[in-house]
Order: sequence, then structure tokens, then C-alpha cells
Amino acid sequence: MNAELLLMFTLGCDRAYLHAHPERELSASEQARYDDALAERARGVPAQYITGHQEFWAMDFIVTPAVLIPRPETEHVIETVLRLACVGRAPSPAALRLVDVGTGSGCIALALANELPQAEIHATDISPAALEIARANAARHQLGSRVQFHETDLLQGLEPKAFDFNLNRARRFSPVLQALKLSHG
Ligand SMILES: C[S@@+](CC[C@H](N)C(=O)[O-])C[C@H]1O[C@@H](n2cnc3c(N)ncnc32)[C@H](O)[C@@H]1O
Repeated sequence: MNAELLLMFTLGCDRAYLHAHPERELSASEQARYDDALAERARGVPAQYITGHQEFWAMDFIVTPAVLIPRPETEHVIETVLRLACVGRAPSPAALRLVDVGTGSGCIALALANELPQAEIHATDISPAALEIARANAARHQLGSRVQFHETDLLQGLEPKAFDFNLNRARRFSPVLQALKLSHG
């Protein structure tokens, strides 16, 4: 699986191309790049840090060692917010205010910005390097004007009670509902 991913990265192609062209031979420079990628992986570097990308909520995110790699199970946070936002426990989507604490790559804030086009979304991180990646991801998805990023410790400088959803991912929590706190309702 990793070998396939790294080969797609080396050739700049998708899985469909790879499988449609089993006869394709690597040029010397492609082989050298592929060998380098495999060697990095063998040293324990996650494949996503080698390719610089990870998919989350069907969106492609830039990842570097400055941010954690978005995990598939974190998509449950998005599902849970969307479910709660639609069952009347929260204000109408147009009035929703959310904050993603410890945004990292920005995956949660940006996935929700995509899904809830009228909601007001804030994201914080204590790490300037992480925020740089989050902002790059926002620009990449044309969501730069949708998320307000704050370099701060947790919610410092913000009013916690002003938010309907406080998604605190500054530390990893296993059960999704612990990561989700509905301030009102
Ligand atoms: C576990 S990662 C989560 C990243 C992302 N939300 C995700 O689910 O993939 C934690 C992030 O929280 C940030 N962080 C850690 N302590 C923090 C704090 N006290 N205030 C704000 N952000 C913090 C880290 O810089 C890191 O980017």
C-alpha cells in the first residue's frame, strides 16, 4: 500500500493510471526518486510526510512534520457536528459559531467550513508553524476567508461561551464525544 502510494507520488499519477499501465518502466531519475522515498519510509518517516499530502473528508490536505497527520477516525467529529447542527440542538447553520482548538493542519475547521458555508468558524493553535500549514490548506481550498485563525494557547483571547461547538483537539481524545462540547443546548 505504501509502496503504491510512493510510486504514485514519484510518477505524479493516480492509482487508476498505475493499474492501467503495468508495463510502464521507470526512468533512471524516477527510479532514484522512488528509491529515496522508499528509504525514507524504511527509516520510519510516515508516507504522508514523504508525499506531503493526506486526504481527510474527501479534501486533500498539505501535511508536514509541523502538523499531525489527520486521522480517518477524526472524520467522526465532522459527522457528529453535522448531525447535531441538523437536529435543532444548535442554532440554525447560519448562526452557528464553532471553534477548533489545536487545529494542526486545519482539517476539522476546513472540512466544517466546506460543509457549513454560513457558519462562523475559528481555529486556534499554539504553534505558528502549524498555523502556517493550516492557512496554506485554507488557501488551497479557497476557504481562506471562511476560517479565522488565531495563534494562541487554547482559547486565550476568545470568549468560550460565544461558541456553539468547541472542538478541542489540542490533545488526542479517543471517544469522539469527549472531543465535542456543545456549549449551548
Ligand atoms: C493532536 S494535534 C490535532 C490536530 C488536528 N486538529 C487533527 O485532529 O488532526 C494537536 C494540535 O494542538 C496544538 N496544541 C497543543 N497544545 C495547544 C494549546 N495549549 N493551545 C493551542 N493549540 C495547542 C498542537 O500545536 C497541534 O497542532
